[in-house]
Amino acid sequence: MISIPFSGSKRNRYKEVKQIIQDNGYKKVYEAFGGSAVLSVNLFREGLVERAVINDYDRLFDLYPAYLDIKDTLIQKCLEAGFIKSNKRLNATQRAYLQSMIATIDEKYWRLLANNFVFSGKQTGSLKPLYFTYFHNDITTDKQREYLQTVQQMERVSMDYKAFLKQYFKDFDDTTMIILDPPYMNSTQKAYDNRYFFGLSATLQMLQMVKEMQVDFIFFNMIERDVIEVLKVFGFQDFEVSTRRITQTSTSSREDCLAYVRNHF
Ligand SMILES: C[S@@+](CC[C@H](N)C(=O)[O-])C[C@H]1O[C@@H](n2cnc3c(N)ncnc32)[C@H](O)[C@@H]1O
Repeated sequence: MISIPFSGSKRNRYKEVKQIIQDNGYKKVYEAFGGSAVLSVNLFREGLVERAVINDYDRLFDLYPAYLDIKDTLIQKCLEAGFIKSNKRLNATQRAYLQSMIATIDEKYWRLLANNFVFSGKQTGSLKPLYFTYFHNDITTDKQREYLQTVQQMERVSMDYKAFLKQYFKDFDDTTMIILDPPYMNSTQKAYDNRYFFGLSATLQMLQMVKEMQVDFIFFNMIERDVIEVLKVFGFQDFEVSTRRITQTSTSSREDCLAYVRNHF
């Protein structure tokens, strides 16, 4: 499996999703809330589906090629300045040097660069050069370039999920799986990153839309009992849930619930 650093990546649910796809013979996947699109990228890369469409709402993959070159240059400068990859904070001189370089880079790349330079607990929400105080994680770009190459072979669009589902509706059949991983309907997420808050009513509208489309889907959300309740309210009867605990910061964790819903008549 390949992945790229992305806060909210579903990389640790790939095995389960792969099993669902294989056991039920799905051949087309539509990832309506792309993010890093790790599930569809790997299903496509392993040849498990014939078609995989990513809705790259954030246009993350447009930033990627330039980001990788910026990362390579920055890492090179850090190594030349004697930085050593470590889980400890950089010393004051190194921090000042790093932060002065970050300040000259377009802010739109900071979130991606954060993976190598920012403590994980500080990577959500808005970033400041001051947060860049580490030199850690994978400092090469080979794996990321491989990921990007796979994405470049896939179908990719960028639009609101509603327009996305409407655009592809005519292709949906009993070999179709929709992947719905919206920003979670909880207030903590809102506090973390207001841009992406997807509240309860947006979540309900989304479920109404896929219900009417009579297409099978995988739906991720936070709290298992809320997911089960909301699916029942909509009259879905044929579904399975699987829940894990996800570490958020060194002191907090949360539920992450996957629901596989059969909705095809
Ligand atoms: C939880 S992330 C998806 C993560 C993804 N499953 C992965 O493995 O990387 C949710 C994504 O939905 C996007 N998003 C937010 N509002 C959206 C909307 N109205 N339509 C489509 N995508 C949206 C966010 O920008 C974010 O990239």
